[in-house]
Amino acid sequence: MVKDTVTIRNNKTGKEVDLPLEYGTVGTPAVDIGSLNKEIGTFTFDQGFMSTASCKSAITYIDGDKGVLLYRGYPIEQLAKNSSFLEVVYLLMNGELPRENELFSFASEIKQHSMIHEALRVFFNGFHYDAHPMSMMVGVMGSLSAFYHSELDMNDPEHRRISAMRMVAKVPTIAAASHRHSVGWPFIYPRLDLDYCENFMNMMFSLPGQQYIDENNYIDPVAVKALNLLFILHADHEQNASTSTVRLASSTGANPYACVAAGISALWGPAHGGANEAVLSMLAEIGTVDRIPEFIAKAKDKNDPFRLMGFGHRVYKNFDPRATITRETCYEVLEKFPSDDPLFDLMLALEEFALKDEYFIEKKLYPNVDFYSGIIYKALKIPEDMFTVMFVIARTAGWVSHWLEMMSEPSQRIGRPRQIYTGYDVRDYKPVLDR
Ligand code: SDX
Repeated sequence: MVKDTVTIRNNKTGKEVDLPLEYGTVGTPAVDIGSLNKEIGTFTFDQGFMSTASCKSAITYIDGDKGVLLYRGYPIEQLAKNSSFLEVVYLLMNGELPRENELFSFASEIKQHSMIHEALRVFFNGFHYDAHPMSMMVGVMGSLSAFYHSELDMNDPEHRRISAMRMVAKVPTIAAASHRHSVGWPFIYPRLDLDYCENFMNMMFSLPGQQYIDENNYIDPVAVKALNLLFILHADHEQNASTSTVRLASSTGANPYACVAAGISALWGPAHGGANEAVLSMLAEIGTVDRIPEFIAKAKDKNDPFRLMGFGHRVYKNFDPRATITRETCYEVLEKFPSDDPLFDLMLALEEFALKDEYFIEKKLYPNVDFYSGIIYKALKIPEDMFTVMFVIARTAGWVSHWLEMMSEPSQRIGRPRQIYTGYDVRDYKPVLDR
């Protein structure tokens, strides 16, 4: 069958080549430019990868114009309504929803791996008390490569599966420990009688003199439901900056714990996962509704680097479907955990103002998932410097799923982009006295 092609012609040299079009199950087709340089001696240039597909993946599909997000084909709205975070983790890692017994075994295995080596407690002591929890997440996740390296056979699918399970299991424990180190509280161990989100909340907030979970093992279901939902919404998002970082690092065959640490580093930036914390800082800086126009003007000023945190997205040029779900959850959580903090009303006023602004409409800048999530975390008493850590807990599921997918491909190659060189052409060395 003749494949569809795209012809690329270098009008300066007259050379041209027909390149094959690659189609996915759904979505935008891609021209395979792998042979372009060999055929006509020309690179492509795509700063920020606006139009470049870096890989083939069956995990997550996004349609930015229609506001569609599918995990292994299942709409995010249905998973948010019906699933649990661990069930979604199983789906992302294995490609299918688990049967009841499969989910039970999966959750049990996660619990078995939720402890961290006691030597890591000492590692935390190396961080100054006011170190940002994200710096501890980068360091401690990366340090797991020191505990799981020599016996790790990356060519063994079972070794890869266990590594992925360990990271999903340990990331809440590391996250809670990062918080407790920063506030000087003793670490709390994970419990086998609690589920994933309950365990995290208990490790975060229980104190020797005051258990977070009462004597009847009661934990507020609204809080646990909200946490499950936020973790589901943040679990994966195709080739975002942090997932692409994990894939590129992993393409060299590096230790997976070190590669996920690289992903945590990339997520930390305010343009990416750091936006949820930056939204709260921005709202605090705006302070009152009457100052909103001043900040909207700053966001529109090309000479001002200020961006409206929580707005805009590389792919969604419509509402981020996760933002719609998170916005609804805001109301439910704040009804259960009322707050006299004016931030929520200020957030809604800013949202209303921006959505009516011509610039934001023309640039298709809508609230993204990070605009609302911080308000929920704040209502759940999660400290602001832990907001991006919450994103890490969820996105570890996506990172390890992409790692497993990539490492199972027989045609896996090292990622090595080229460049447009803008430096000097060749020139001769000058002795220091002649310069
Ligand atoms: C996440 O990739 C993912 O999938 C990420 C994520 C995931 O789940 O992994 O969805 C999570 O990172 C969500 C995004 C969180 N970040 C923020 O909320 C930070 C604020 N947003 C912006 O920094 C920005 O919108 C980005 C980084 C999200 C997207 O940047 P792009 O795609 O490179 O868009 P751009 O910078 O080219 O902006 C296009 C235009 C520009 O104006 P012009 O140069 O065309 O005149 O829109 C403007 C920008 O100046 N613009 C904004 C803006 N975002 C874009 N202007 C004001 N405020 C903003 N927030």
